[in-house]
Amino acid sequence: MSYRLCVIPGDGIGQEVVPVAVGALQLLLPDLQVEHAEAGWDCFQRHGQAVPEATLECMRACGAGLFGAVSSPLQPVSGYRSAILTLRQRLGLNVNLRPVRSWPGVSPRDDVDLLILRENSEGLYSGREQMLGSGHAMAERHITASASEALAQRAIDVMGLRAVERITLVHKANVLPLTCGLFRDRCRAVLAAADLENKVDERLVDVAALQLVAEPQRFDLLLTTNLFGDILSDLACHWSGGLGLAPSLNWGQGIALAEPVHGSAPDIVGSGRANPLAAVLSAALLLRFHWSRPELADQLEAAVSRVLAHHAGEDLGTATLQRLEQSLLQQLTHPQQD
Ligand code: NAD
Ligand code: IPM
Ligand code: MN
Repeated sequence: MSYRLCVIPGDGIGQEVVPVAVGALQLLLPDLQVEHAEAGWDCFQRHGQAVPEATLECMRACGAGLFGAVSSPLQPVSGYRSAILTLRQRLGLNVNLRPVRSWPGVSPRDDVDLLILRENSEGLYSGREQMLGSGHAMAERHITASASEALAQRAIDVMGLRAVERITLVHKANVLPLTCGLFRDRCRAVLAAADLENKVDERLVDVAALQLVAEPQRFDLLLTTNLFGDILSDLACHWSGGLGLAPSLNWGQGIALAEPVHGSAPDIVGSGRANPLAAVLSAALLLRFHWSRPELADQLEAAVSRVLAHHAGEDLGTATLQRLEQSLLQQLTHPQQD
């Protein structure tokens, strides 16, 4: 089988970390066909479009992509919407998979291994916000049975690829009984139809946040809506070692876009301090969940683990990218050496 990858580095440190991840994938898949595409704020300023049609076509043709990060202005700019939101929406990437696990040497705990499955297409990300008067703004939160069911179905797919003991549905149905209630009920129905009812549990999002801080080792697979998943995945990634180690996979039917959870990090761009391992681990998610090459994903994650063990206790604050890249390439080519 030949693999094609649409590479979209985007803005800021996206341009720095993505080449490291592509290099690692090329070592594991020597026949990988790599294509390059543009997206983001810089692209918008040059072409007037944050996601050109050519980028969407490249993604569709390849069926797989690796995205870095993009910048977004804090004030609305006419015609601009974060490129990653457009990519998720236009490519039907309706689920976002965000694993959080302990790594040797760098993680504050050694017992965390959880997976957040975030609905990726609706909720408060509907893009429908308006002013109702000069002092009154409104955002629409859309929850559909079909997107909720698709998320739960993905949980079932994940269970074929990874052992899962407990599924926690995270919502706020006490305050939002219609939207969160629909989400919870449709997820439960799909999981019950697959005879998984005995594994399903639920939490209100506020208490889930507290428990993710206090007892993260008790979580296994979490299913939640778009904004809750956005917030909880940043919170939970603290346990793996922070944003520099937080990968994700935007996952649709027959198409996937890997993406580190972090943004364009304007505060460190150009300093050499960006950690490329979140992008590398995102590439491992493509291997495991989209390309069905778990043995290569294991190989890549084992190399990352050895790199982190090797650099444990070092100040990774300076020239992180180059040091970690060299160390990773060495671990991938000569796995036994330090
Ligand atoms: P950010 O993730 O860019 O940075 C938050 C902090 O984490 C910064 O101090 C940064 O230096 C650090 N950091 C992030 N990634 C790192 C890495 N790989 N190695 C070392 N340190 C890392 O979030 P922000 O500062 O809130 O946002 C900056 C810009 O990125 C904004 O324009 C925002 O809209 C955008 N953003 C984009 C995405 C995306 O494209 N998926 C995600 C989040 C934020
Ligand atoms: C993420 C990011 C995006 C989101 C932003 C950049 C639109 O924070 O991927 O977590 O909110 O989904
Ligand atoms: Mn986020």
